[in-house]
Amino acid sequence: TTVLVLNGPNLSRLGSREPDVYGSQDLDALRSVLVADAADRATIDLRQTDDEAELIHWLHEAVDSSTPVILNPAAFTHYSYGLRDAAALVTKAGIPLVEVHISNPHARETFRHTSVISGIATGVIAGFGFDSYRLALRAVIGLN
Ligand code: DQA
Repeated sequence: TTVLVLNGPNLSRLGSREPDVYGSQDLDALRSVLVADAADRATIDLRQTDDEAELIHWLHEAVDSSTPVILNPAAFTHYSYGLRDAAALVTKAGIPLVEVHISNPHARETFRHTSVISGIATGVIAGFGFDSYRLALRAVIGLN
């Protein structure tokens, strides 16, 4: 199995962006951790984009290829109905989609308390740094 690990806007800046909130490791480090965790059980296909359309197209790709998704929608979490509808296509097709966040958005600004994704996600993991993704990977491999 392949697992798509999709990351939304500004997550390319991990490592230098607000390290007090997001830690000092970058996306390449995250990929290495997940590849090691997955070992021979899954192939990790980790991507990042700042572009809402591209992220939506990747979710369509997940539907067409029946590929489970770990999704950090970043700021799109809080307002993108287009992304929500695309994510719903995944879960309505019976494919797991886990929403993850590095930080705990509920412990931050009020606008981060709303997720338009959570209602259609298979599950949500937030607040554990990169371990949010590692826990999601365990869930997804276990669910498959
Ligand atoms: C985030 C939380 C979002 O509120 C924020 O816009 C991000 C990252 C997280 O992983 O903690 O970009 O999704």
